[in-house]
Amino acid sequence: MPLPRSVFVPAYAKINWTLDVLGKREDGYHELRSVMQTIALCDTIRLTVDESGTPGAIRFTCDVPALRTEDNLAVRTAHLLRRLAGRDMPALRIELSKHIPVQAGLGGGSSDAATVLKTLNTLWNLRLGIHELERAAAELGSDVPFFVHGGTALIEGRGERVTPLPDAEPLWLVVVMPDVGISTPAVFQALTPDQYGHGPSSETITNAIRAGAQVPFEQLHNDLEPGVLRNFQEVARAHDDLRGAGADTVLMSGSGAALFAPFRELDDAARVHASVAATGLATWLTHTIAATAAIG
Ligand code: C5P
Repeated sequence: MPLPRSVFVPAYAKINWTLDVLGKREDGYHELRSVMQTIALCDTIRLTVDESGTPGAIRFTCDVPALRTEDNLAVRTAHLLRRLAGRDMPALRIELSKHIPVQAGLGGGSSDAATVLKTLNTLWNLRLGIHELERAAAELGSDVPFFVHGGTALIEGRGERVTPLPDAEPLWLVVVMPDVGISTPAVFQALTPDQYGHGPSSETITNAIRAGAQVPFEQLHNDLEPGVLRNFQEVARAHDDLRGAGADTVLMSGSGAALFAPFRELDDAARVHASVAATGLATWLTHTIAATAAIG
C-alpha cells in the first residue's frame, strides 16, 4: 500500500504597508484600499491525503487548543473545496501549528485558509484556475484572496480585488504583539466617518513599488490606527516602546493589535528587537517575503 501523500506548507503572515478606509458600503463592509505584504513569520500546516481512509473524511488538529474546532477557517476551507469538487474527496488530515499571533491584524487565519485552498487544489487534483480560487477565497474572508497571491499587492473593494505588484524591496521587520487581542469587526464598527482617510498613501506606495523605488517609510499609513491607539493602552504603550527603542517608523498592521517597524539594516532591526524583547513584549525579528516564495 502506498504511503499517504503528505506535505508541509508554510502559511505566511502579512502586514499592511497602507490601509485607507474610503467609506462604508451598503453591505456593511468598508471600502478599502491597502497595500499588503507577506512576511516570513508563518504558521505551519501539514496536509495528508489518505486514499485508503474513509472518503469525504476531514480530520483536523491544532497545537493551540482554543483553535482546534470544526469552525476553524482551515477546516471550513477544506469543506468548501469538497463542495466545489462536487464529490467525496479522499480522506484528509489537516495539522496546524500556530506561530502567527491571533487577533493581531497579521492575517493568520486567512493565510491558513489560502494555503489549504492552494495546496488541496493540487493534492486533490481539482485543477481550479486562479479566478476560481480567488472566488472561493473571497467567500472565506476579506483577506483570503490576497494570500492566494502573496508577495506585495494592492487590495481594493472589501479586500477581494487583488492587483499583484512587483515585490517591494526586501526589508527587515520587527513585529510586536501587545498584550491584547483585537477583534476586527469591533475596530470597524467603532470607526466614524471623520476617521475615513482620503489620503493618497496607497497610491503613493503603489507608484513607488511599481517604479522599483524604495518603500517611502514616511508615507506608511493606517486609518484604523488612531482609534486603536486611543482605545487600547497596551497598543499605545507598545508603540511608545518601539519608538523608544529607536524605531523611526512604527505602524499598526490591519486592525491590530500587532505593530511593525521596517528596517533596511539588520543591525538596526536587531538592536530594536533586543531592546523591545527585554521589556517582555512578544516580538519577532522577521522580514518581507517575495511573491515567488509565497506562491505554493
Ligand atoms: O471578511 P471578514 O470576515 O474577514 O471580515 C470580518 C469583519 O471585519 C466584517 O464582518 C466587518 O465587520 C469587518 N470588515 C469591514 N470591511 C472590510 C473587511 C472587514 O467592515 N473591508
